[in-house]
Amino acid sequence: MTSNPHHAADYVKEIAPGFLPRVGLVLGSGLGTLADKIESIAAIDYRDIPGFPRATVEGHAGRLILGRLGGMAVACMQGRSHYYEGVAPRDLAVPIRMLRLLGVDILLLTNAAGSFRSKMKPGSLMMIRDHINLSGLNPLVGPNEGEFGPRFFSMEDAYDPILRQHLAAVAKELGITLHEGVYLHYLGPNFETPAEIRAFRLLGADAIGMSTTPEVLVARHAGLRVLAISSITNAVAGTSKIPLSHELTLKQAKLAAEDLERLLIVFLETLKRELLKAHIRNSEGRND
Ligand code: HPA
Repeated sequence: MTSNPHHAADYVKEIAPGFLPRVGLVLGSGLGTLADKIESIAAIDYRDIPGFPRATVEGHAGRLILGRLGGMAVACMQGRSHYYEGVAPRDLAVPIRMLRLLGVDILLLTNAAGSFRSKMKPGSLMMIRDHINLSGLNPLVGPNEGEFGPRFFSMEDAYDPILRQHLAAVAKELGITLHEGVYLHYLGPNFETPAEIRAFRLLGADAIGMSTTPEVLVARHAGLRVLAISSITNAVAGTSKIPLSHELTLKQAKLAAEDLERLLIVFLETLKRELLKAHIRNSEGRND
């Protein structure tokens, strides 16, 4: 049976009554330290949230943290689940739909990824412009949940162009190099073969990882605005002498963690100002 995101949202609302997060944040492998910067009002283990898939991989704490970051009310997932853990694809919809039910309308996703570009080195950041879902899976397969969105929907501009512009401007202001490119979702859990990497390069991939596209699909179905950043942890298989491992991913993710934290905190501060301005403009334009 499919889990019901309403049960998850109701549980969280009981723990933090009246708390209305506007932004959802998902922290990927080795990137969980940003959660320490949140002025938190509650931290909830995924295992306590009804129907929430567990995060079983090292480097994924598996906690939902509610609080303020950069002045914005956020609901932050410290760690995520992946298809390769054996989670039913449909169950990966629960966390994102729960965020939607809590009031989130902007979703910021992070992940660790391998780089196809020699100039995009470990320790650097790539804003995702578009993706290739090569996992072969999709959390939206099955009866459509019309409450959240339509059966068919567009994935053009899935990574919100305005939010991307904002993020690029903030990165420039802070002197942080922010690459931009296409993320390819590989099912895993193994890293790719060199032959696969040669094929994926021809397909147009700039970075590769084992997450993020399920969340983007569910979020876009539900009309959330999405922004996603890859923290580059390694050069892709067959292009470097360093053997790939999860330990390497966790170690290298730390290299970019500080830049990522600064970038996201200032981004949220800017976003708050922009949303406030838009709100004022909207209410001035109203004649009720
Ligand atoms: N491939 C797939 N997933 C990854 C990689 C990679 O090279 N690096 C971090 N996650």
